[in-house]
Amino acid sequence: MGTEKSEEFYDNKFTHENDYHEHYKDSWYFVHWTQIIKYLKRFNEPKILEVGCGTGQLAEYLFDEGYKNYVGFDFSKKAIEIAQKKTNFNFFVGNALDPSSFKIDYDFIICTEVLEHIKEDFKVIENIKIGTNIIFSIPNFDEVSHVRWFLSERQIKKRYYRLINIKNITRIGNIYIVLGERDNFAPNIVQKILASREEISFESFTKRFKHRIKNMLKSKAI
Ligand SMILES: C[S@@+](CC[C@H](N)C(=O)[O-])C[C@H]1O[C@@H](n2cnc3c(N)ncnc32)[C@H](O)[C@@H]1O
Repeated sequence: MGTEKSEEFYDNKFTHENDYHEHYKDSWYFVHWTQIIKYLKRFNEPKILEVGCGTGQLAEYLFDEGYKNYVGFDFSKKAIEIAQKKTNFNFFVGNALDPSSFKIDYDFIICTEVLEHIKEDFKVIENIKIGTNIIFSIPNFDEVSHVRWFLSERQIKKRYYRLINIKNITRIGNIYIVLGERDNFAPNIVQKILASREEISFESFTKRFKHRIKNMLKSKAI
């Protein structure tokens, strides 16, 4: 498992790694971004805020597809410098953990390959307005800057179900692309138990449930 990296790490990456300078059609991520465009087509004139937009490759794809309402931010100054040369979209340097980065007019969040780089990913999501449509992508492989990665759709739902109402997950190669809506779900005890288990049979569920009730009754009796 990797560790969370600073702005300087990404500045250096974007200065020296060619992948982030390629035209979007030549990028390894092109097929994933095409899935994002497919999801986006379900929405009418979204006002997009891209969180951790990197060097603006996806932004350029969105621009060519005719999207007009777009703002992107990233905490890497180098990334923003490169992004600003690609389109006439607005970009700014901002941290996803800082609520002030979200103080603009948007109704759609795109956040690709960013959450797995941030320890406090829940804080990032909490900065998003309730009811906002979200597309995010996360990997199922480890890397030096990945603080987590996912083995299954279930793991993704388990981590994010309280904060995002997940509507669709598409896996392409090593990347999961998730469509959802910012939510604030307070699970009841049964939902918590269900979410806490990887696999659950009816038998193990009833056994665990009976055990909890017994403990609850016992603690009330004292
Ligand atoms: C793997 S790159 C992905 C870039 C782009 N979204 C893409 O899909 O190509 C991760 C990006 O997240 C940005 N990032 C990481 N932590 C961040 C934070 N706390 N606030 C804003 N951007 C962050 C990095 O600077 C980098 O651009």
